[in-house]
Amino acid sequence: MRRKIIAGNWKMNSSRADGVALAAAIAAKISSSSPADVVVCPPSVYLEAVGQAIKGSAVALGAQNCYFEAKGAFTGELSPAMLRDIGCSYVILGHSERRQLLNESNQDINRKVLAALGVGLTPIVCFGETLDQRKAGQTAAVVREQIEGSLAGLSREQMLQLVIAYEPIWAIGTGVVATPQQAQEVHADLRKLLEIRYNSEVASAVRIQYGGSVNAENAASLLAQPDIDGALVGGASLKTDSFLAIVVAARQ
Ligand code: PGA
Repeated sequence: MRRKIIAGNWKMNSSRADGVALAAAIAAKISSSSPADVVVCPPSVYLEAVGQAIKGSAVALGAQNCYFEAKGAFTGELSPAMLRDIGCSYVILGHSERRQLLNESNQDINRKVLAALGVGLTPIVCFGETLDQRKAGQTAAVVREQIEGSLAGLSREQMLQLVIAYEPIWAIGTGVVATPQQAQEVHADLRKLLEIRYNSEVASAVRIQYGGSVNAENAASLLAQPDIDGALVGGASLKTDSFLAIVVAARQ
């Protein structure tokens, strides 16, 4: 049985005080008997403060990005080991905003995934198509190419350590959520791809989150789909009530 995982991607939002308050309010309501693993991913400058706010709770800390080198002259970058050092256990990689706005390639993401796994971080690796690609019937091919490039060379053991997030770009921050059927179809395809590339054990163990305009109202119907194992939540993760309602929706 795959345990569901709900992660809040705060993106470039919040302040130190608001982030600490939000994280503390979430941590106060989440326990190990909650229906899902819960992760908060604040901006990197607030990781340490938010980490303190959730210390000793069942909520885990995640970063929104890392670099692929271990150390050295890479001005402005953060190594996976630094993220581990300040208490992160997860890192979001390959988010479409980074792919599109910061020109991250599948190869960059692949190097980051391997570097993160190398220090024991759990990568949440994101994939998804644009609206034009969906309209042109290219969704399966686009996502497959992203998976093959971003997850190239990963062993079976490494695959078992990461989380996949299917995030159709047209659904991110738009209020236009994929229907449960649209999301389930891609998730089932992804699981089939994992079975072909690895085996049925890997395919049935890897958790695949859906992301893109998930909120308190639509979460339950998405999370009820057999191949949707959680949510990567942007806007609705910035408010305690809506984020907690999504966690509760994982109970079914
Ligand atoms: P959204 O963002 O929930 O605001 O659509 C999701 C994401 O980008 O991870």
